[in-house]
Amino acid sequence: MSAPAKLWGGRFTGATDPLMNLYNASLPYDKKMYAADLEGTRVYTSGLQKIGLLTEEELSEIHRGLELIKEEWSQGKFEEKDGDEDIHTANERRLGEIIGRQIAGKVHTGRSRNDQVATDMRLYVREQLGNLSKILKDLIETIVKRAESEIDVLMPGYTHLQKAQPIRWAHWLSMYATYFTEDFNRLQQIIERVNVSPLGAGALAGHPYGIDREYLAENLGFTGVIGNSLTAVSDRDFVVETMFWSTLFMNHISRFSEDLIIYSSGEFGFIKLADAYSTGSSLMPQKKNPDSLELLRGKSGRVFGSLSGFLMSIKSIPSTYNKDMQEDKEPLFDCLITVEHSILIATGVISTLNINKAKMEAALTMDMLATDLADYLVRKGVPFRETHHISGECVKLAEDENLSGIDQLTLEQFKKIDSRFGDDVKDVFNFEASVERRTATGGTAKSAVLKQLKNLKDQLN
Ligand SMILES: *[C@@H]1O[C@H](CO)[C@@H](O)[C@H](O)[C@H]1NC(C)=O
Ligand SMILES: *[C@@H]1O[C@H](CO)[C@@H](O)[C@H](O)[C@H]1NC(C)=O
Ligand SMILES: *[C@@H]1O[C@H](CO)[C@@H](O)[C@H](O)[C@H]1NC(C)=O
Repeated sequence: MSAPAKLWGGRFTGATDPLMNLYNASLPYDKKMYAADLEGTRVYTSGLQKIGLLTEEELSEIHRGLELIKEEWSQGKFEEKDGDEDIHTANERRLGEIIGRQIAGKVHTGRSRNDQVATDMRLYVREQLGNLSKILKDLIETIVKRAESEIDVLMPGYTHLQKAQPIRWAHWLSMYATYFTEDFNRLQQIIERVNVSPLGAGALAGHPYGIDREYLAENLGFTGVIGNSLTAVSDRDFVVETMFWSTLFMNHISRFSEDLIIYSSGEFGFIKLADAYSTGSSLMPQKKNPDSLELLRGKSGRVFGSLSGFLMSIKSIPSTYNKDMQEDKEPLFDCLITVEHSILIATGVISTLNINKAKMEAALTMDMLATDLADYLVRKGVPFRETHHISGECVKLAEDENLSGIDQLTLEQFKKIDSRFGDDVKDVFNFEASVERRTATGGTAKSAVLKQLKNLKDQLN
């Protein structure tokens, strides 16, 4: 094997194990970052010119070459060659072919692949998280719109998957819109932490020619520089945070999906997925399976796997750069694409499903108003601990009498349990009135739900 084909060559002249080349190579996946890599080099070389290490002419040749390489990548015409280990060496090798090795050989002055890859990763992740923010905002807005237009539909709210109290369907939607808005806000905070520059830190010890790191940072759109060169090249917290964010977000998506899977079952029948997001069974003609939701739920595991796998990879590597860190890319990229697709699928599902208002409301049962019955007596001055017990007795009596619900008890039966019951007790047994009583912030009253939705919209704008 001839040494000059390898850009790092010189001292290493022996052949390497061919499997080692494959095992080691990252180009198959890190070429996704070609644009970030070229942009980093464009700005870095401007920085070199600024401190007199490149002439104006050399710089403009370099920039011309980088532009051409970018075109080749974007048109799918870039030819990968043996010895292109990663996106950095591939781009630099190609630059040499276009503008000559004499000038191209100066590009890497004072830079190491260690600060280069950290820069590329941050640029790439920053852009990708910006893209995720946009589609996540669409998802939230879709849910909010749906909630506004279906504000009048009631359904059971559950705890322990047991019918608990009546709520609005819009309140359920608003719950997930609230989770996703928190995710959105958290994402903006992570973008801020991603957006600092490692460039100019060299291999680990800093830059020997006094490059202006603030200039590099500013021209790459970073808000500042990482203040320690060792940290700059060894820090992958932004990758971990991105994967943690993704994991938490996918956890929310998974619970959202699980609710909808339950609501779409024959026993509930609250919702029906659009054909585009469900499939039939290969055997049972009557079935319509919520595959999209099951995949959303299932893929949350895969994303968590990326996070835990990478944390294991880096948990005890010594400072600063070690090859283990290359193991950040595949899980990160997989995680990002999975989250992107999951957001798009969830948006599609929620914007196309049909609800069955009649079934949702038919699932409401009078025993779900037992708390309201207790509240009725509280309004008459009875302490809640006592009313809770009295209401329980009413439930028991209705059961013992084989009545269809507590609303079927006669006034005499109520009065026998507690003399403070009056004729107006019948007003308790109204689901709409029950949700409307919960006007405090965050509750089920129409005004309270609309306020939640407005608040979410305000946060996004
Ligand atoms: C493995 O790839 C790295 C660049 O990512 C390179 O520096 C190193 O020389 C390669 N080693 C082998 C044995 O191919
Ligand atoms: C972000 O979105 C833009 C516009 O759709 C696209 O060109 C770009 O490749 C995306 N960036 C990443 C890192 O996926
Ligand atoms: C209620 O139904 C059960 C079982 O069907 C029966 O044993 C019981 O006597 C009934 N109670 C009344 C009050 O009708």
